[in-house]
Amino acid sequence: MSHGDWTVRARQDVVYRVTDAPDVFAPDNGALARAARLEPGTSRLVVMDENVFAHHGHAVLAYFLGHRVTPHVLRLTGGESRKTLAAVERIARAADAARLARRDPIVAVGGGVLTDLVGLAASLYRRGTPYVRVPTTLIGLVDAAVGAKTAVNFRGHKNRLGTYHPATDTLLDRGLLRTLDERHIGNGMAEIVKMAVIKDATLFDLLEGHTADLVRTRLAGERGRQVMHRAIDGMLEELEPNLWEHELCRAVDFGHTFSPAVEMVTQPELLHGEAVSVDIALSCALAVDRGLLTPADALRTLALLRAAGLPVRHRVCEPGLLWEALADSTRHRGGEQNIPLPNGLGKCVFAGDLTLPELTRSTELLLRLLDEPGAAV
Ligand SMILES: NC(=O)c1ccc[n+]([C@@H]2O[C@H](COP(=O)([O-])OP(=O)(O)OC[C@H]3O[C@@H](n4cnc5c(N)ncnc54)[C@H](O)[C@@H]3O)[C@@H](O)[C@H]2O)c1
Repeated sequence: MSHGDWTVRARQDVVYRVTDAPDVFAPDNGALARAARLEPGTSRLVVMDENVFAHHGHAVLAYFLGHRVTPHVLRLTGGESRKTLAAVERIARAADAARLARRDPIVAVGGGVLTDLVGLAASLYRRGTPYVRVPTTLIGLVDAAVGAKTAVNFRGHKNRLGTYHPATDTLLDRGLLRTLDERHIGNGMAEIVKMAVIKDATLFDLLEGHTADLVRTRLAGERGRQVMHRAIDGMLEELEPNLWEHELCRAVDFGHTFSPAVEMVTQPELLHGEAVSVDIALSCALAVDRGLLTPADALRTLALLRAAGLPVRHRVCEPGLLWEALADSTRHRGGEQNIPLPNGLGKCVFAGDLTLPELTRSTELLLRLLDEPGAAV
């Protein structure tokens, strides 16, 4: 007989796979058929970015029909302004219309906005439905589609509503980047530079002197493969032991302290990676000011960002807005600043005591660094 006091403890095992799958929509490539459990006579809800549909829709439809599976296709427009609860509701309506059963995986084909939306919809639909991701942007391949987080923006705040619900499978096909414009490749490069600076000096070396080429070739070739693999290795090494973010000191938050506010305030001007790049540049200046990074290594980082076509400063980045941005990130990090800063290239420390005068000084230091000849590409 209980005394009116119950404690429930349960554990959830999480297993998901991220797999290289070149030519993912080639008729004889079985990776997607296995991941989405395509069986003849069944149907699948396929949510696709509109631009991706324009370029690759034919191949996707042929793939499903070739497996004698009926694709119910929902096309969504990409871009940050479309990352809304209304879009999640559209996916849920499409799931109803497709008469989706509880264990039928939804297939998501698109950039980070689309995979975040489908992930959130899948986590809500029947309180959790499986889904499979095929990322089609560089940011998706190395970041958005390899982790567990889903989200929509809410009331002007970036990713304010979201869940942790990884896809059972993510299939990586660099070839899909062929149709993506260079600006969006640069956008993904920001997340790769992030991993290089705080975690992987070898990745930094792979990028240095080759960034513009990697962007132009859309990471085709052996160097592109190594860059993508190292970026994902580093990312998953950081995420796996902290998938639900119980630990709020996260190295992968480098470049994501000031950028959420900068990204939202500048909408639609700055892409996610562009705002991250502006934050990386400022964080490097903070690290130089603290004696953690040499000015020469900060200049090398700025040169990498610029070689990817990324901005390293923006007019909205005055101390008042940056201080407010830090206050919001501090709330997000449970009341601690936890600002990841490079401690030499390839290593990271966390700052918890940044003051407004120091932040102001660092914005000025960044301007001086940018005037140095070495900051140019
Ligand atoms: N969940 C996470 O952990 C995580 C991590 C990083 C970023 N993100 C999120 O990712 C989003 C940014 O992702 P994004 O930059 O991929 O944005 P996006 O999904 O809006 O795609 C960018 C643009 O590229 C187009 N596009 C996509 N693939 C294409 C292709 N292969 N060919 C031609 N055009 C194509 C889209 O139509 C869109 O216009 C942000 O909302 C960010 O918050 C999430």
